[in-house]
Amino acid sequence: MEPDARSETLVVRIGAITRETDEILKFVLVDPNGGALPGFAAGAHVDVHIAPGLTRQYSLLNPPGEGRQYVIAVKREPQSRGGSAAMHGGLAPDDLVRIGSPRNSFGLDHGAAHHLLIAGGIGITPLLCMAHQLAATGGTYTLAYFVRAPELAGFAEDLAPIARAGRLQLHAGLNAEATIAAMAGLLARQPEGAHVYTCGPCPLMDAVGELAKACGRDLPVHREDFTALPLIAGPDLAAFEVQLAQSGEILPIPPERTIADVLIEHGVALDTSCEQGMCGTCLTRVLGGVPEHRDTFLSEEERAAGDHILPCVSRSRTPLLVLDL
Ligand code: FES
Repeated sequence: MEPDARSETLVVRIGAITRETDEILKFVLVDPNGGALPGFAAGAHVDVHIAPGLTRQYSLLNPPGEGRQYVIAVKREPQSRGGSAAMHGGLAPDDLVRIGSPRNSFGLDHGAAHHLLIAGGIGITPLLCMAHQLAATGGTYTLAYFVRAPELAGFAEDLAPIARAGRLQLHAGLNAEATIAAMAGLLARQPEGAHVYTCGPCPLMDAVGELAKACGRDLPVHREDFTALPLIAGPDLAAFEVQLAQSGEILPIPPERTIADVLIEHGVALDTSCEQGMCGTCLTRVLGGVPEHRDTFLSEEERAAGDHILPCVSRSRTPLLVLDL
């Protein structure tokens, strides 16, 4: 199947929807004509264009060798800003959905001597894919899966071969202290040359990073940040102003609003999609001032250059930010 050349997206059909837990649905996406889909490697995700202006990123959880399907899972979030609610309530088998081609910022380092995969909740999805890929290529790994209760684990079919291989550690119902102790023990036992991959709630990933540093040796940690939305607006943030270069108009950005919200409210033609600083749709040139980047789209070099901003999430380090609008 060819990606849509205009937008690098493709249309897929929902082949099946199955319930993994009370909160999690699994979606199998296939080519409407039964053809092959663009390939991917473990750690890849796709943008799902759920509705106009509503795009969300979901990791692929099935083995990369499965060329005719993508499998994703979506947790129903009580605080959903539209994405998980629409995926849970608005889609049915045989519906057609537009998605982006797989992208990957969370790939395996094949030079690692061992791979420790640490998942929290729905963060298991990219790590399942990694476990499948490592099993297929003979890589050694351990998958540690932390969930609030056994019935919230789900993915029984996907986890079964990993458990049979003796590579699954399921930690259900641990309190925070016990979770930290379990992770510290795991990290301390890693062999020289091991790499750590983590996906899940931000506090869990932060703890993995801190514990790995505390081990006192080189233990690289790779993390996937889908579930960790940056603080993009709130009473603790600073107010600033944005100037529109073309008209000279100056708009105040209060702590509890994003730049994008204010621009759109004032009739500025700004395209947005994910509204999470991930897709790059709202990328805007900066002509003055210093942006405070809160996105996950720009590279380190692009951030340092300071000449572009993702106004759906990012803010300003200076009292005035001049945008090329
Ligand atoms: S809308 Fe996706 S990065 Fe701003």
